[in-house]
Amino acid sequence: MGDDDNIRTEIRSLISSLPSDADFQGAKIYNYQGCWYRNFALQAVIDFQRNCKPTDTDIILASYPKSGTTWAKALTVALLERSVDGSCNNHPLASGSPHMLFPSSPRVFSTHMPLHTLRQPLMNAPCKIVYMCRNVKNVLVSLESFCRGVHYFGPFWDSVLSYWRGSLEDPEHVLFMKYEDLKAEPCAQVMRLAEFLGCPFSQEEKRGGSVEKILELCSFGNLSSFDVNQTGTHDIFFRKGEVDDWKNHLTTEMQKKIDMVIQEKFQGSGLEF
Ligand code: A3P
Repeated sequence: MGDDDNIRTEIRSLISSLPSDADFQGAKIYNYQGCWYRNFALQAVIDFQRNCKPTDTDIILASYPKSGTTWAKALTVALLERSVDGSCNNHPLASGSPHMLFPSSPRVFSTHMPLHTLRQPLMNAPCKIVYMCRNVKNVLVSLESFCRGVHYFGPFWDSVLSYWRGSLEDPEHVLFMKYEDLKAEPCAQVMRLAEFLGCPFSQEEKRGGSVEKILELCSFGNLSSFDVNQTGTHDIFFRKGEVDDWKNHLTTEMQKKIDMVIQEKFQGSGLEF
């Protein structure tokens, strides 16, 4: 048996020793360092923790699933590409899904891992971490398993709090963004993101409408109209792209239950939804 096979066997044995449960779709999930993963994701997480070689300029986009990862990825790619060619014309986003575009420098990664599990592989590299948070009511898929926290990449609360606290402790390297804020004040938020990523808009760019152009390029309507985002598996990242759609889906009883959990989990943190 080669080294790779030994490592695979070791990882499989580690996984089988972890606490397990079933998620809302009945798939087996494992609790590793406080976060629930399906098998394939967990293998990738362990591989990443063991083999990641961070560089100082790496950018990591973190989020809980369904929180606006695709939007954050598109905006980041658009911000970085604009500094290269200065325009949005014939942009790579028009022909490639945001999830398939990997700028080589700086490198951009995305993950659903909570912050404490990222710290170990990143060691002390001064990477920039952007966390996209979304109102839990828009994120939740299955109330019961969601509130119990037994959901892949869950508990949601721990993911959000890990990055919230990380952003308070180390604002130079961890930026906490909210999907709802990006919707409510897009120009201010995208300028905040650009500033954090080290590619702020110049006065000339602002006067020339560069901020608005990037927002239009990355808007739900524009991105979801590209063929690449309507085919294959990429269409799952585009549904409605609205704030407060939960009001059309949650009963009053469900809303009360989730409000109680929010109150319990986030009280004292300074984070509000
Ligand atoms: P809805 O299901 O509420 O429509 P993720 O990328 O983390 O999987 O998040 C998916 C959510 O972000 C979906 O929300 C999707 O419609 C929304 N979304 C995707 N692209 C967007 C964009 N460019 N602007 C706003 N929302 C977007």
